[in-house]
Amino acid sequence: METVLREFHVEDIRPYNRKSPLHWVLSHLMRYPHLPILMVVASLVNNTAYGNIQLYIGKSFDQVLRGPSGALVPLVLVIVASAVLQGLTGLVRNYSVETLAQRIERDCREEYYVSLLEKSQTFHGKQRVGDLMSRATYDVHALNLMFSPGLMLIVDSSLAYAIPMIMIARLHTSLLLVPILFTIVLVFTLLDYNRRLEPVSLAQQEQNGKLSAETEEILSGILTVKSNVQEKYELEKFLSDARVFRDYFIQQGIIQARYWPMLAFALSWGMSLLHGLYLWKTGAISLGTVIGFMGLFNTFRFVTYISLFSFNTVQHGMASAKRILEIINTQTELDQNLQGTRKKIEGSVEFDTVFFGYNGALVLKRINFFIQPGMTVAIVGGTGAGKTTLTRLINRTFDPVVGSVKIDGIDAKDWNLESLRSQIAFIEQDVFLFSRTIRENIAFGREDATEEEIRQAAQLAQAHEFICSLKDGYDTVVGDRGVTLSGGQRQRIAIARALLTDPRILILDDSTSAIDSRTEDEIQKAIRNASRNRTTFIITHRLSQIRWADRILVLKKGELVAQGTHEELMEVSEEYRKIFSILPKGKVYGIHS
Ligand SMILES: Nc1ncnc2c1ncn2[C@@H]1O[C@H](COP(=O)(O)OP(=O)(O)OP(=O)(O)O)[C@@H](O)[C@H]1O
Ligand SMILES: [Mg+2]
Repeated sequence: METVLREFHVEDIRPYNRKSPLHWVLSHLMRYPHLPILMVVASLVNNTAYGNIQLYIGKSFDQVLRGPSGALVPLVLVIVASAVLQGLTGLVRNYSVETLAQRIERDCREEYYVSLLEKSQTFHGKQRVGDLMSRATYDVHALNLMFSPGLMLIVDSSLAYAIPMIMIARLHTSLLLVPILFTIVLVFTLLDYNRRLEPVSLAQQEQNGKLSAETEEILSGILTVKSNVQEKYELEKFLSDARVFRDYFIQQGIIQARYWPMLAFALSWGMSLLHGLYLWKTGAISLGTVIGFMGLFNTFRFVTYISLFSFNTVQHGMASAKRILEIINTQTELDQNLQGTRKKIEGSVEFDTVFFGYNGALVLKRINFFIQPGMTVAIVGGTGAGKTTLTRLINRTFDPVVGSVKIDGIDAKDWNLESLRSQIAFIEQDVFLFSRTIRENIAFGREDATEEEIRQAAQLAQAHEFICSLKDGYDTVVGDRGVTLSGGQRQRIAIARALLTDPRILILDDSTSAIDSRTEDEIQKAIRNASRNRTTFIITHRLSQIRWADRILVLKKGELVAQGTHEELMEVSEEYRKIFSILPKGKVYGIHS
């Protein structure tokens, strides 16, 4: 199997064949070979039993015509036994295929989920969450339906076709005439039907992904929608997309309605009766044989009717397999580098002629600096200057396009990704909290932390006090996306989370928080506590923070225009002086470029 780059890896996940949707589905199927075998055997016995009933009804008929006799009893017994067998094997068939389908759904969902965790930030930055979700739910479930009932019906109806054909041939070979003609018509119409249905099926699923992506986005941004009074506009947009989705279903309905094999079946059934009666008239077969033949031919009704439905679900399932596999097979840029350096970080960081851009356009240009272990570094610059981007290169969220980022003198690419990232803590500009308890949010990344450690971290982060003032204290569940806490509170929880993991390098993106002076004092204290004994990068607009930094990096439009201490920069950097000249005296509220 080809190796796929990935940032994360689960040891015991099975290697499935990902060459094509068909290979992939088959390799999932082959994980439980006994289930499909059981299904086929059960279906075989089931259909033979059913055919047998038809044959013995014919035979009984002949027996009755010959006059009353005891010979009828064994015939009836065979019919009863066949009926019981048919019932039992039907049960086994359905049970095995249902188990198979549920397991495959579970396996595929697991594989898909793992593959999402493996992907780089560049990948996730481009994807719409709702679309990924629809693949995880709707499409994965379509795989389930493809097996049960889809595949089961195909196997069952194939056997419900083959076994009666053999039985008819054994009754009298010339009886095969009408069934064969019927088969030819059926195959052609099915192929045609399939060809027309496939594009509609695929478009339907794409549209479903789009719809759920839109719903997700609107719900995430509901505050923005409301404050801009865009409800009506968004509703109309949604309805028009929903209409497109509906139209695909109507199109599918029209294709299904034009399904004329049922008509072909009805005609053939009539023709087969005429043919059977004709053969009886010529004395080639008995009347009972004609009845048995008609009973057998009737099983084709099931085949004809069900092929419509089963083709549909299999088609749908394969389209879904394609959509899931598309994501699984997307290459990502980074890999976890299992063989890479794995050791405790001292804390020196060096940027060596680093260039970086997201989609071609350069965001960082020729960045050079060297930071000693334990230093506190302030990064300043106007909005969009590239401050956040620069720090993202330190923990390898992205790799530079040119140049290298070295941690302890070792290229970040040569570090074991897990070892590197687990020692670098990030407090984002927009702190994300999970809808879990505050305790769990703080212990995220350190599940084994004790109650005491969590409390200590919260105290250092100046968060303990406000947490205790909440109704449930540390057990308070944070609302979705952390909306029940203020920006300053979320930031302090993030600081506590970072402190608990005791990172060697701490990165704090503090540039947007505008807060009152009391909270600011607390956050200052928290940050000071956090930056002790480790290399710390602070992106900030606060003068007090900038002042006590050991080194200040001044960024302007992606370029590092100056670096040094506050005093040095006031001396030599026009740009730095400009930044401060526009600040009010005394307290600092923010800078503008
Ligand atoms: N994921 C992304 N994809 C494409 N471009 C991006 C992405 N993130 C940022 N950019 C662009 O890169 C440039 C630098 O962004 P960055 O977030 O690093 O700025 P910043 O200095 O942190 O700004 P701010 O102070 O507003 O947070 C901006 O022009 C921005 O448009
Ligand atoms: Mg930023």
